[in-house]
Amino acid sequence: MATRTRTATLSVTDNRTGQSYELPIEEGAIHATDLRKIKVDEDDFGLMSYDPAFLNTASTRSSITFIDGDRGILRYGGYPIEQLAEQSSYLEVAYLLIHGELPGSAELEAWTHEITYHTFLHENVKRLMEGFNYDAHPMGMFVSVIAALSTFYPEAVAVDDPEVRMKQVHRLIAKVPTIAAFSYRHGLGLPYVYPQNELGFTANFLSMMYRVAEPRYSAHPALERALEVLFILHADHEQNCSANAMRSIGSSRVDPYSALAGAAAALWGPLHGGANEQVLRMLTEIGDVKRVPEFIEAVKSGQGGRLMGFGHRVYKNYDPRAKIIKATADSVFEVTGRNPLLDIALELERIALEDDYFVSRKLYPNVDFYSGLIYQALGLPTAMFPVMFAIPRTAGWLAQWLELVTDPEQKIARPRQLYTGYGERDFVPLEKR
Ligand code: CMC
Repeated sequence: MATRTRTATLSVTDNRTGQSYELPIEEGAIHATDLRKIKVDEDDFGLMSYDPAFLNTASTRSSITFIDGDRGILRYGGYPIEQLAEQSSYLEVAYLLIHGELPGSAELEAWTHEITYHTFLHENVKRLMEGFNYDAHPMGMFVSVIAALSTFYPEAVAVDDPEVRMKQVHRLIAKVPTIAAFSYRHGLGLPYVYPQNELGFTANFLSMMYRVAEPRYSAHPALERALEVLFILHADHEQNCSANAMRSIGSSRVDPYSALAGAAAALWGPLHGGANEQVLRMLTEIGDVKRVPEFIEAVKSGQGGRLMGFGHRVYKNYDPRAKIIKATADSVFEVTGRNPLLDIALELERIALEDDYFVSRKLYPNVDFYSGLIYQALGLPTAMFPVMFAIPRTAGWLAQWLELVTDPEQKIARPRQLYTGYGERDFVPLEKR
């Protein structure tokens, strides 16, 4: 005898008509399109859900990253972020995000080879970068150069071809550190340093950033590891603003360079990856631990802007990445000396975590609260901070994109609207307005 599985359902009564409907519940969600059955008459379009900023809308099924915001849990492919930060490397994590499993040693070797051998930029890309003003924001350069790459790899339009897709994945993960480093050197008027294949991903990036006249640049191992940890922590974060931009643009089946340029542009905003830059500006403006209470009062009264680096759409608990970054900052400061802004950050955190305004709204430090202090200790200008975020997030964006383009349930992303404008009215000639 066949076993009958009881499907979970939701019963809804439309009080406009008195009619009842039963909507299936799967994985804790109803399908928004099922609401369309709920109509007042045959001509009615059907009920929609109104959800500005996607506060309660799942736009996809995804197996890449898991977050439990209430409990402060973050996992990639099931692996806790704390274990990955302690035991893994960025390239291993990037492989995990892209392929869904950690690599074996042969797979890791092949993957590392592919990434290492795609780090060079076409000389015309370099020339394109030389054309920017000396004071161009490096993130503006980053976004533009990523978009320009689509013209260098026109075959990337074949988004339905798995081999073509993987080739662009290798290219993008490999080239973003080179673009980032060139954008940094451009601002300083220093010659660009080409990639060195014998160096690992992070060591090579540091060499492209900081090498001057020495034949070989060796970063301090503690700083190299700290950056590797930051790369791991920033690699993905499920359906955030930029991942959603990547998916939304990618859903038109455009090439991944164009989609990733859009995702990077979304990341640049001060409420997203631009927040670490804002945190540093905020700490510098506060300037002294004694002024922290005054600043907190200004934030609470709405006069002082937001406490940047605090709060998160999904974490209503301490962001697990912030905990790891705080510990990483200590290892960096042992080498570079203590960043004096750290004391202001610690005092802000201490007061905010005791203050009812922040406690009642469940506002805790997020990933960006301490990351900027590390970047600053590494000698980076604040304008480079979002670029530092974009380097590892490239792996996450690509993982999200690969999942999207191979998901039979997905279509071009196209939300509905509730129209609030005029009804039909006749055009008025200019002389009569
Ligand atoms: N400082 C002061 N008040 C805040 C803050 C903050 N940082 N964040 C939220 N609030 C208040 C907000 O005013 C609101 O209060 P009320 O209910 O009285 O109107 C309440 O908390 C809820 O805020 P919200 O804006 O509805 O929350 P959201 O989920 O839309 O915003 C956020 C999330 C991250 C944009 C926001 O917390 C924020 O602006 N934080 C500062 C910027 C920041 O650090 N961003 C980095 C996010 S983590 C990295 C990343 O995703 O890139």
